[in-house]
Amino acid sequence: MKIHVTDQSGVEHELEGLDGWRTMEVIRDWGLNIKAECGGACSCATCHVYVEDGWFDKLPPPSDDEEDLLYSTLDKKPNSRLSCQILLSDELDGMRVTLAPSAAKDSEAA
Ligand code: FES
Repeated sequence: MKIHVTDQSGVEHELEGLDGWRTMEVIRDWGLNIKAECGGACSCATCHVYVEDGWFDKLPPPSDDEEDLLYSTLDKKPNSRLSCQILLSDELDGMRVTLAPSAAKDSEAA
């Protein structure tokens, strides 16, 4: 399966994903600019992405913890999610996400 990730510079990357992996792990392991400070424990919000092109509605709703963290970010949009909370599956083959500015390794905002 593949996911399409646009980085903070606007460059699109097609990444090979694995069923059952977290979207954050794929983005991080392919070396894109994602801080993911807490390693996927849903406690940092530095894996913030915007889910594009109708894929947002295919995702299970966020937990209360994820919602709270998203509200703490300065660049939240209606299609914001934490990428460590998006588990990949065949249904998400082709998903498009864009890395939020606050997910960058050198970002001060989280
Ligand atoms: S990596 Fe910390 S909340 Fe996703």
